[in-house]
Amino acid sequence: MSIPKAELHLHIEGTLEPELAFALAERNGVTLPYASVDDLRAAQAFDDLQSFLDLYYACMAVLRTERDFEDLADAYLRRAAAQGVRHAEIFFDPQAHLSRGVGMGAVVDGLWRALSRSEETHGVSTRLIMCFLRDESAASAMETLELARPYLDRITGIGLDSAEVGHPPVKFREVYEAAAALGLRRVAHAGEEGPAAYITEALDVLGVERVDHGLRCMEDAALVERLVRERIPLTLCPLSNVRLRAVEALEEHPLPAMLDAGLMCTVNSDDPAYFGGYADDNFDAVRDHLGLGEDRLRELARNSFLASFLEDDEERRARYLAEVEAYEFPR
Ligand code: HPA
Ligand code: ZN
Repeated sequence: MSIPKAELHLHIEGTLEPELAFALAERNGVTLPYASVDDLRAAQAFDDLQSFLDLYYACMAVLRTERDFEDLADAYLRRAAAQGVRHAEIFFDPQAHLSRGVGMGAVVDGLWRALSRSEETHGVSTRLIMCFLRDESAASAMETLELARPYLDRITGIGLDSAEVGHPPVKFREVYEAAAALGLRRVAHAGEEGPAAYITEALDVLGVERVDHGLRCMEDAALVERLVRERIPLTLCPLSNVRLRAVEALEEHPLPAMLDAGLMCTVNSDDPAYFGGYADDNFDAVRDHLGLGEDRLRELARNSFLASFLEDDEERRARYLAEVEAYEFPR
């Protein structure tokens, strides 16, 4: 079901398919702690967020050069285009590379080589969002923002990811203030494994404009009412939630209730190489397992463009929105 859509919650490192991981391992003389592609896939049986993060960071060891980041992003954009993605706001985790001796330049310049020709090559417009690892210190986040200064013309915003519980948004107040002063847009993961209170804190303390995941807002009726009133977009990732056991089964996912409550939901793939599907696979999953009809699917696609950071190109947003309205579902 390739309805035109924007992808707003996508970690580029989470698009590293096992086949590419082994190819890059060979190219760079790096040894992965897995014997084969099948072995690596077998390791993708996760219990929770941390068990995923352990594998996610281990596999990143193969990403060493500008060309690796270019190849990674190009492979993602090709797959995304085939799944109806017209615009992608892509997260990257610089600290996970800096700590391995890979410079900010290799990461951003490499990604940018793929992103800057993506419209021409894949028909996908892009933005970059730099995430801070919340289980690292606030000082490390601030140093990372400093290191990114020469690249800010290519970075639209900042985000917050990695292990959530025990690392509340308030820990990053100063770095979010500094980023806002630099004109960067602000998002944060909140309410994936962490409590609804982290969502409120991300809004009040960090000034986020979108909430990544935000699933657990459903435990706080006053917060739901506020998110609806303020039209705060939530970037939901249904297949991720199942694989990381934030929900017991796809059939139990609160997305229909969230839409019924009037929340501005979007559907995204998070880390598609690890969670069993790209953008359309997530749309197909909510159609097939949550009984969402054409009106709801069109609403999700419309929301993705309304929630995207296209304020500098409203003509493009209008064009994409027109494509959503004109889309005919296959019979
Ligand atoms: N949650 C937190 N951190 C992450 C995720 C996620 O889903 N994916 C990559 N880093
Ligand atoms: Zn995520």
